Amino acid sequence: VKILLINGPNLNMLGKREPHIYGSQTLNDIVDHLQQVAQQQGVQLTHMQSNAEHEIIDCIQQAMGEQDFILINPGAFTHTSVAIRDALAAVAIPFIEVHLSNIHARESFRQHSYLSDLAKGVICGLGAQGYEFALIAACKQLATQ
Ligand code: DQA
Repeated sequence: VKILLINGPNLNMLGKREPHIYGSQTLNDIVDHLQQVAQQQGVQLTHMQSNAEHEIIDCIQQAMGEQDFILINPGAFTHTSVAIRDALAAVAIPFIEVHLSNIHARESFRQHSYLSDLAKGVICGLGAQGYEFALIAACKQLATQ
């Protein structure tokens, strides 16, 4: 079983970036922990982070036929990118949308996502733990299908 984790723009700044909103863990801390969880679950987890919309789209396209599930925190592209939505629809790989912060409790422009209605589920506001819950949910969904 193969699961792809995608982190969008500015998530490479985790730990230094508005820690009162996004927490003090770095992206490496988070991914290292997720790799341990993936190992325990017996799944192969691949991670990519990019600040560039086209790189995220290329990565989603390349996942077709290769990956069983996608976990994605699209960062600000959540609120802007019809193109990332179209890529996810095109490859038809089930995905969970993750946000560290509770986007519904913030500025109004963060309250709309171009992806949520296509997602299997959406987790927000639970910090880095949200990624872990998403990974476990993906493993359960793949095991019962
Ligand atoms: C975010 C929320 C987005 O609104 C923001 O642009 C981000 C991070 C989150 O994880 O809470 O970059 O996706």
